[in-house]
Amino acid sequence: MDKERAKAFMSTMVDTLNSGSLALMMSIGHRTGLFDQMAGMGEVTSSELAHAAQLDERYVREWLAAMTSGGVVDYDATSERFELPVEHERLVTRAGGPLNLASTMQTIALLASVEDDVVDAFRTGAGVPYDRYRGFQSWMAEESAARFDSALLDVIIPAIPGATEALTNGATLADLGCGSGHAIALLARAFPKSTFVGIDFSTEGLATAQQHADEACLTNVTFLNVDAAALDLVETFDYVTSFDAIHDQAQPHTVLENIHRSLVDDGTYLCVEPKAHSALIDNMEEPAAAYQYTISTMHCMSVSIAGGGEGLGTAWGSNRIAEALETAGFVDLAPVEVRPDRANSYVLCKKR
Ligand SMILES: C[S@@+](CC[C@H](N)C(=O)[O-])C[C@H]1O[C@@H](n2cnc3c(N)ncnc32)[C@H](O)[C@@H]1O
Repeated sequence: MDKERAKAFMSTMVDTLNSGSLALMMSIGHRTGLFDQMAGMGEVTSSELAHAAQLDERYVREWLAAMTSGGVVDYDATSERFELPVEHERLVTRAGGPLNLASTMQTIALLASVEDDVVDAFRTGAGVPYDRYRGFQSWMAEESAARFDSALLDVIIPAIPGATEALTNGATLADLGCGSGHAIALLARAFPKSTFVGIDFSTEGLATAQQHADEACLTNVTFLNVDAAALDLVETFDYVTSFDAIHDQAQPHTVLENIHRSLVDDGTYLCVEPKAHSALIDNMEEPAAAYQYTISTMHCMSVSIAGGGEGLGTAWGSNRIAEALETAGFVDLAPVEVRPDRANSYVLCKKR
């Protein structure tokens, strides 16, 4: 028994308890707009902040206590004023776009909401179906919209050789697992001569996607409500993209084959999947590995199993992604560096 090791672990566990708690409170700070409100206000009392944010002072004061204890905000005990340091602003406010980690903290609350189902699933080996995740589509849409807004048109599309020119002149692109369709909407607006198809089996996600397309008067967009494993289109698209939409499929290999078949002969597929190594040992030093395996257990793996699938898991990793693409028939695999998005790996490949 190494007493020092036990002591260090005790300290790690207390940190973990604090971090998990703080994540929930930061999610609340994001959803109530408290972080956005605090930014630029300088030093405020709990009453001033509550008044500005139109929230209840007692709750705001307790939230500020948690934020102070967690090192998120500064506190002056004499004046009883709190301040969001300017260095923290972009990491916790909507103005930070894809850097806003307070938005990402909502993941912890979402996963916690299905804990009972996941505990049952540990006993039965069954999965947890999508419909148990209340608010999944709106959470996902918010998470990925920030990334798409900052990188899709300026970095991701230009990284696909010839795509900007082809889409400007008129091409067809499908986004598989499009969710609430933000990527499709951005593309449709930027490339009016091209046609875009969003594919998903979430009625909720597609309803939002259609509503946004209608509001923006986009006439070059359609949405297909179909299970990607049953997608039966032949030589239809010049480009297919999938953003975080393969690993949680029930039948990922069938879906990749369907994507392959749906492309025209010289078609291109951009496969975007969570960045990870395929072996646990190689992920041990990755800063967000525990987070990634938790999302996997409590969502990505379990929704796949719920659909009768193999439960690839979030961290199936770059080697297995490449193997799966090649098995589906794709060639010329090429990783693409998309700097603003460090959480995902981007692989381009050709049909032939
Ligand atoms: C993790 S979300 C990613 C959504 C979107 N691409 C984004 O980045 O915001 C995965 C999406 O794949 C969809 N999906 C999962 N399995 C599917 C299937 N078998 N057929 C069609 N869509 C599916 C889900 O409904 C969900 O919208």
